[in-house]
Amino acid sequence: MCGIVGYVGRPDGHGNAGHSALDVVLEGLRRLEYRGYDSAGVAVVADGVISSRKKSGKLSNLLAELEARPLPETVTGIGHTRWATHGGPTDQNAHPHLSDGGKLALIHNGIIENFAELKRELMAKGVTFASETDTEVAAALLGDIFRTKLNGDVSDGGLTRAMQLACQRLEGAFTLLAVHADQPDVVVAARRNSPLVVGLGEGENFLGSDVSGFIDYTRRAVELGQDQIVTITADSVDITDFYGAPAEGKEYHVDWDPASAEKGGFSSFMAKEINDQPDAVGQTLLGRSDINGKLTLDEIRIDPELLKQVNKIIVLACGTAAYAGTVAKYAIENWCRIPTEVELAHEFRYRDPILDANTLVVSISQSGETMDTLMAVRYAREQGAKTISICNTNGSTIPRESDAVLYTHAGPEIAVASTKAFLAQITAAYLLGLYLAQLRGNIFSGQIKDVLADLNKIPAKIQSILDNSGPLRELARSMKDEKSVLFLGRHVGYPVALEGALKLKEIAYIHAEGFAAGELKHGPIALIDEGQPVFVVVPSPRGRDSLHAKVVSNIQEVRARGARTLVIAEEGDEAVKAYAEHVFYVPETPTLLMPLLTTVPLQIFALELASAKGYDVDQPRNLAKSVTVE
Ligand code: M6R
Repeated sequence: MCGIVGYVGRPDGHGNAGHSALDVVLEGLRRLEYRGYDSAGVAVVADGVISSRKKSGKLSNLLAELEARPLPETVTGIGHTRWATHGGPTDQNAHPHLSDGGKLALIHNGIIENFAELKRELMAKGVTFASETDTEVAAALLGDIFRTKLNGDVSDGGLTRAMQLACQRLEGAFTLLAVHADQPDVVVAARRNSPLVVGLGEGENFLGSDVSGFIDYTRRAVELGQDQIVTITADSVDITDFYGAPAEGKEYHVDWDPASAEKGGFSSFMAKEINDQPDAVGQTLLGRSDINGKLTLDEIRIDPELLKQVNKIIVLACGTAAYAGTVAKYAIENWCRIPTEVELAHEFRYRDPILDANTLVVSISQSGETMDTLMAVRYAREQGAKTISICNTNGSTIPRESDAVLYTHAGPEIAVASTKAFLAQITAAYLLGLYLAQLRGNIFSGQIKDVLADLNKIPAKIQSILDNSGPLRELARSMKDEKSVLFLGRHVGYPVALEGALKLKEIAYIHAEGFAAGELKHGPIALIDEGQPVFVVVPSPRGRDSLHAKVVSNIQEVRARGARTLVIAEEGDEAVKAYAEHVFYVPETPTLLMPLLTTVPLQIFALELASAKGYDVDQPRNLAKSVTVE
């Protein structure tokens, strides 16, 4: 959940290495702040001394602190932006944490599960603690090993050796970065179950939770494996396992440019990302078929014969990605006739699920680092299932640990509330469904061509929704004092309703609930009171007519009880007008593809309403972009 940056350059400023460690680290933290913003802190090594600053709250608080109490110019530094787990978001609990008499500084992302036991052990040795964090225990352990086990000897590995020994004692999930005053030109890092990427420069090297931590300086990145330690200097990158055995990282080129992770003139990243959606869907569809219109998903390296034998699909994901999975279920079952379950990843492995070699597990994750999803994928593999990951982040852990990956090409998503990744995930899931149907001969190639043609029309249709969103924005602003908004949908409109409600909760802090419209009479209708706003996502009148008629009846039912009905319907649907206070039309599209359109007005509504309330839509309270703890 936290963001981590490390940097070492050459002290003489040769090559590209004339950067100040503090500048690099702060720029990295600015880009990684989406990962957590409960506090921020930095430490630099200069003239054989560690100096650090840390402040609770957003990065801007740390910048003000650095303005008031500057740090020395130097070429070795680490920085951290925190999403609090152990201990509240205070200055004291902010990282870095120091040990070895202030000579060692450490930052951490993850949870040290055996911290209490280690703390007791260290306290028995006389170590005292200033914070409530598990991180300070890791810092103290590392300092203790460096000083008492290795006698502070830097000639034989020093901090690297101490990190190896410390990691052998740590349980849980962690990325750790440490600097020591006695090794001023080195940053040592370790990773287990938490993300860490190395950036390769000329006469300088970088570490980041993801590549955005150093994207302004290099596009050459190295993926680290599980349980590895990396030591960077200005001119070297050495990787070992936790026992000192040499290991190799996998180098790759980062293909997005820093500008795509900037706001580009929009008031927020979320606004930009909603606006990016025609591109996100278009890019995800790009290059997926051959000249005969046959779908080709080159990344799916699972033997087609095995895929033909799949008799059950389980989609695993969390949050918005799980709603994308629910949309996928309707499409996959329709096209492939394979029973498909969608499960919240954190529930999955605790219920003894039934799966075997004929089960295909499809995980969906924007970040590729969500711990709940990762653990569920690992569990599924252990049970012999085949795993495919739908992911937006190149080189991240979930695709790396899956049998195959289908990348979405939405570009970096920075706002905590997911928007463009959701549409790209749905698009990729459709492609996967069509691919399986093609492989298994469930639908004719002509039909696949037709669906692909309909999908290729989606970007322009999203654009037209964006271009005509004025009245919706106005409505959202007028509703800024609402206390509760309900969302109803049926069939593929149901996950859209859930997603609409989640967006509003996340960024506007308004009570919002999504319901399957048919469930209304079984309880939720009791919530309807005079003036209660209810969004209704209406299916196409050209689809199964009973479905449309049923949802129109649901609108009437809530309206009869005083609800203000705000309807998202397909252009030309006149039937809804009589029962709607406001209708927002989306272009005509086949029913199964409608979520790619009907979601967009709900995203815009949440964004506009939260902005009218004056909230920071990119960094909503209590949240972080990727949840890398269970
Ligand atoms: O990175 P992932 O797609 O695995 O993240 C899953 C959820 O944490 C994420 O979708 C979350 O629900 C977002 N805040 C939704 O806006």
